[in-house]
Amino acid sequence: MACTWAVESVVVSRHLKEQLIYLKNSHDKRAFEAVSSIPEDEENHRDTGGALGGKNRLFKPIRLLISLFTETIIRFGMR
Ligand SMILES: [Fe+2]
Repeated sequence: MACTWAVESVVVSRHLKEQLIYLKNSHDKRAFEAVSSIPEDEENHRDTGGALGGKNRLFKPIRLLISLFTETIIRFGMR
């Protein structure tokens, strides 16, 4: 669950929020509405991961590595 918590934290707290700001400024209402429906679902995934032990301090190094990899893959994919 540490992996789920780490991935979803990056996706929700950084990537989706940035995408929503971008789409709102681009005035693409349809795309904005489509992406707006995603964060709540991803937050639920993150919270489930946390509730099932993913936030245990023993997993902190694993969460850090997974967060860095996730962020890297997202940034690489956006190029
Ligand atoms: Fe998810």
